[in-house]
Amino acid sequence: MKISTIGLTKICFLLSVSLCILLFLLSPWRQHALPKPLLVPACNLTCTRIYLESRPEVTRLSTATQDWRRNLVKSPANVGLKDDSRSSDLLQLDDLFIAVKTTKKYHRTRVDLLLQTWISQANKQTFIFTDYEDQVLRQRAGSQMVNTNCTAVHTRQALCCKMAVEYDKFVLSSKKWFCHMDDDNYLNLRALLDLLSAFPHNTDVYVGRPSLDHPVETLDKIKGDGSSSLKFWFATGGAGFCISRGLALKMSPWASMGNFISTAEKVRLPDDCTIGYIIEGLLEVKMQHSNLFHSHLENLQILPQISLLQQVTLSYGGPENRRNVVRISGAFSLEQDPTKFKAIHCLLYPETSWCPQKNHLSSLT
Ligand SMILES: *[C@@H]1O[C@H](CO)[C@@H](O)[C@H](O)[C@H]1NC(C)=O
Ligand SMILES: *[C@@H]1O[C@H](CO)[C@@H](O)[C@H](O)[C@H]1NC(C)=O
Repeated sequence: MKISTIGLTKICFLLSVSLCILLFLLSPWRQHALPKPLLVPACNLTCTRIYLESRPEVTRLSTATQDWRRNLVKSPANVGLKDDSRSSDLLQLDDLFIAVKTTKKYHRTRVDLLLQTWISQANKQTFIFTDYEDQVLRQRAGSQMVNTNCTAVHTRQALCCKMAVEYDKFVLSSKKWFCHMDDDNYLNLRALLDLLSAFPHNTDVYVGRPSLDHPVETLDKIKGDGSSSLKFWFATGGAGFCISRGLALKMSPWASMGNFISTAEKVRLPDDCTIGYIIEGLLEVKMQHSNLFHSHLENLQILPQISLLQQVTLSYGGPENRRNVVRISGAFSLEQDPTKFKAIHCLLYPETSWCPQKNHLSSLT
């Protein structure tokens, strides 16, 4: 009798302990113990960097910040394509959907410069995704300007909101390639078409410049239960990247109709990082690394002048680093062309009305 009472007590004790553990596992305190969604502050470098520096569980990132030096161009045609068989039907400009992400603050400066330079050569294919119904820009760009209605702050959520609108608009178009650009990118359209034409037709392609020299490692909260980690590469949004249509459609469960925002929230990653997560992490398609894309985080001054016109994208340093521009001799003064985009554009399109005379230009090349 005594023994069975002790046994009963033991069972009760064990039961209550298990109940406590169960309650703890399900309790709201545990939810609080999980890291809170991160609000990335307005940033002057990239959200990716701020994000990476503030996330201890994203490992091996302490050396990330200056690693772009090692990723710089080794040779002009360093693209890393395994297959150089060109697709039978050569790619046309009309096969591209080019999204330029901007914000109200940069309409008169950055966007005007792009409209004057490379967008003028692809104005039917290029869409400007912004956050403000600017009548001046609307008059100039018409329906090519897309008011995303996303808030005009530089937070992870706002950036993901724009990427989500870009993605949905691309899916509705019938274009073969989605290319995302930032408003401080010069896009060399011919170099881009050459690069994309080199990929075998109908393969899944995600091409851009890796942000770091190693893959990001994060907890797998979507495919797994969040206990194992997932490694993936991603193309830095600030340098521009492209995705083939077939691959973009495969992303749809995690990217279409607002799902992109919820995916980014779930994994708490910035927009460009979330794209890499979906493609490499979830779809297991390898990113193609290319050194032909360039963001303002690189030292642009060390790009060899002879290879500048073969690069797919270029950029320039922001207000914090005005001297970080490509080195190119041109007919424009520093005040006329602080970003060097006009000099680049005139070498690519010397027939442009505001470019210097041809004979003048040829002495510069
Ligand atoms: C933004 O709001 C306007 C006005 O309500 C609407 O016409 C437009 O379609 C919205 N843009 C997007 C991308 O939903
Ligand atoms: C970036 O912003 C932070 C906080 O606003 C500031 O402390 C820092 O000096 C800025 N960095 C540069 C390079 O401007």
